[in-house]
Amino acid sequence: MVPKHIAIIMDGNGRWAKSKGLPRSAGHVKGAANIETIARAMKKRGIKYLTIYAFSTENWIRPKDEVDKLLELLEEYLTKAYKNAEKNKMRLKVIGRRDNLSEKIQKKIEEAEEATSMYDELVLQVAFNYGSRDEIVRATKAISNDVAEGKLNVDDINEETLSSYLDTKDVPDPDLLIRTSGEERLSNYLLWQLAYCEFYFSDVPWPAFSVKNLDEAIEEFNNRNRRYGNV
Ligand code: IPE
Ligand code: IPE
Ligand code: MG
Repeated sequence: MVPKHIAIIMDGNGRWAKSKGLPRSAGHVKGAANIETIARAMKKRGIKYLTIYAFSTENWIRPKDEVDKLLELLEEYLTKAYKNAEKNKMRLKVIGRRDNLSEKIQKKIEEAEEATSMYDELVLQVAFNYGSRDEIVRATKAISNDVAEGKLNVDDINEETLSSYLDTKDVPDPDLLIRTSGEERLSNYLLWQLAYCEFYFSDVPWPAFSVKNLDEAIEEFNNRNRRYGNV
């Protein structure tokens, strides 16, 4: 059985580049190219949802040229998704904070989401300018506004309500989280959504993470005994 939804923390682009004597930006380019390979393999295997961590709300503190490179790669990726929508048959969604991204990028995000909205073989959520705490704060504000405007009763707020105000609304929670490159932490990723997820840590840096590595993660997932609080 394959998991329905895999979330990935694509880490190690910089270290991969360093190990090859290349600039960090080369690691980001190679890492971005690997998304396509892994997403295609997942689609073939019948995985329905993939959520990838591309840029965190904390990543703005990196050197400006690196941030600029990551923004440029997002733009390129969105343009490609738009152009190849028909061929890829993947639905693209971008999760994360929008209001402090440039208008140009916001528009590209909307265009790519719109152009791919009719596909459902694989839903690819790109977490860009994403932080889980930021997402929960934005959801809390939106809930508060709706309560203040009388659209929502405080007594009716439950777990489903909060889920439906998150960026990931309409998408089931991940079953398997993969973090590459040896780090074993969440770095502010999907804190609410990963409540019962299985975690898999790989030492392979993201640009070198292969379809074989993906299959190893899926195999280990299948050998786990999932519990959900039961005995
Ligand atoms: C992951 O690789 C990509 C982003 C965080 C944008 P890193 O850039 O974090 O690479 P390392 O962890 O420094 O090797
Ligand atoms: C997490 O990686 C964010 C992304 C993969 C986009 P980082 O490399 O930024 O995380 P930390 O700083 O090592 O926790
Ligand atoms: Mg890193």
